[in-house]
Amino acid sequence: MWRNSPHSYGLIAILFHWTIAILFLGQIGLGYLTQITTGDPRLQFDLYQWHKSLGFLTMVLALLRLAWALAAAKPRPVPRTSRLEAIAASLTHSTLIAMTIFVPFTGWAVASTSPLMIPSFAFNLVLVPDLPLRRSEAAEALWSNIHAYLAYGSGVLAFLHATAALYHQFARRDGTLTRMLSPVSQDVRRGGTPAH
Ligand code: HEM
Ligand code: HEM
Repeated sequence: MWRNSPHSYGLIAILFHWTIAILFLGQIGLGYLTQITTGDPRLQFDLYQWHKSLGFLTMVLALLRLAWALAAAKPRPVPRTSRLEAIAASLTHSTLIAMTIFVPFTGWAVASTSPLMIPSFAFNLVLVPDLPLRRSEAAEALWSNIHAYLAYGSGVLAFLHATAALYHQFARRDGTLTRMLSPVSQDVRRGGTPAH
């Protein structure tokens, strides 16, 4: 139930997956909103604070998820998966996990190099120290570009990933999506005992 079984994801992996997926996709939208609200500085400032807070939360959850993924064996590929598909899926998953850590990290670097020196108060509760980087407009612009390219690039990859999952579920009917929704789905379908 909690841990992955050979055929299905466990509840912990499922909760991590959907919480981080929603946060990450929401953050791309929120980051974009910070760029188009220049006409309302008050609103833009508030959006920035939410963007930074939710970004730190995403990074912490992504680090915990990485630790969990390294500690637990992954379910086997669904039946009729070719070797090439299995490699592509595995590479995509690893890249997405890396991006949920690197993208917030580069955002943190933008805030840390900005000459505006606006402190990062996560959820108005915790003062997150800046990274030890030199502040300058050039450094801020560089990190800002890296942050934007990685964020939008990961958005494209996540879109392809979600499309592949839906294709597997509804065209091939191999239960790919179901096993990321319910911890016992595949085990029960196979007549096995759900893993605890
Ligand atoms: C899941 C994590 C994150 C995602 C997906 C994300 C995504 C984005 C996106 C899409 C933009 C708009 C880029 C553009 O159109 O130029 C943006 C801007 C920005 N983000 Fe993030 N971000 C994340 C986390 C963070 C964190 C943790 C911080 C800081 C602590 C941060 C700071 C910023 C800043 C300062 C900008 C404005 C950059 C500029 O002025 O050009 N982000 N982010
Ligand atoms: C609505 C969008 C999404 C759908 C429908 C979706 C669906 C799925 C499914 C069905 C799996 C299981 C694949 C398998 O059995 O091999 C999976 C795994 C995975 N997905 Fe997504 N996903 C979505 C968004 C995302 C996002 C935004 C990220 C990260 C930014 C992400 C990262 C991952 C990772 C890392 C795995 C590997 C398993 C794990 O460690 O959690 N997914 N996804």
